[in-house]
Amino acid sequence: MTDLLINIDHVATLRNARRESFPDPVQAARECLEGGAKGIVFHLREDRRHINDDDVRRLKADLDTKLDFELSISREIVGICCEIQPYLATLVPERREEITTEGGLDAIEHRMRIKETITRLKGEGVSNVALFLDPDLDQIDEAARLGATAIELHTGDYANALRDEKRVHILDRMKAAAERAHQNGLIVHAGHGLDTENYPLFGSSVPHLKEVSIGFAIVARAIFIGIRGAVEELNNIIASSPYTG
Ligand code: PXP
Repeated sequence: MTDLLINIDHVATLRNARRESFPDPVQAARECLEGGAKGIVFHLREDRRHINDDDVRRLKADLDTKLDFELSISREIVGICCEIQPYLATLVPERREEITTEGGLDAIEHRMRIKETITRLKGEGVSNVALFLDPDLDQIDEAARLGATAIELHTGDYANALRDEKRVHILDRMKAAAERAHQNGLIVHAGHGLDTENYPLFGSSVPHLKEVSIGFAIVARAIFIGIRGAVEELNNIIASSPYTG
């Protein structure tokens, strides 16, 4: 089955909106794990708009689970990632003016900086490094050449496609990208904008899906049924969308 990892950034967004000490993202992470999540994802942004350095250190100290540390290629943040030693580092593009991550990395244009970052992470013991990419075959091939061990497919365009024909077209690109990654020996992850409504078609169409990372939909649903319930609900949907490995 595909593993569900929960991104807890938006618990910190809510806390920071009132400059309070609650809700605590670490406590939320613990409840996600009790609800069946297989790991926790967070993005330590350069502007620290949600998760901060203290959160990251407490996540590492308090939880015995897979941590997926999303980061840009900023040297400062890469240094913190090396200190934390997560199970996985996922490199993402980052622009201060964006509301959320808007697309995949351009691994071809930024190959030198990405290569340098992957080499540093691996050299300092972070052996699993994913690149967050749009479903573009050239980008997937470049990820393999640069030494990434996984790719995370950016599913934002799929999630935003309102018409079925557009969704099917994007899914064809996702399937081809997942196949190509698998042929290149890369592990396949996916995320961005996935939820209970759009997951079933995605999960039962795209092959080799080892992990999905879901955040906003879980935190939004948690307002009505609690975060543990929201994780259980999504896990049930994932379980009924068979993994095609
Ligand atoms: N994966 C990556 C690389 C992301 O940047 C995000 C958003 O922070 C997610 C997954 C989760 O997206 P969402 O919050 O829309 O579920």
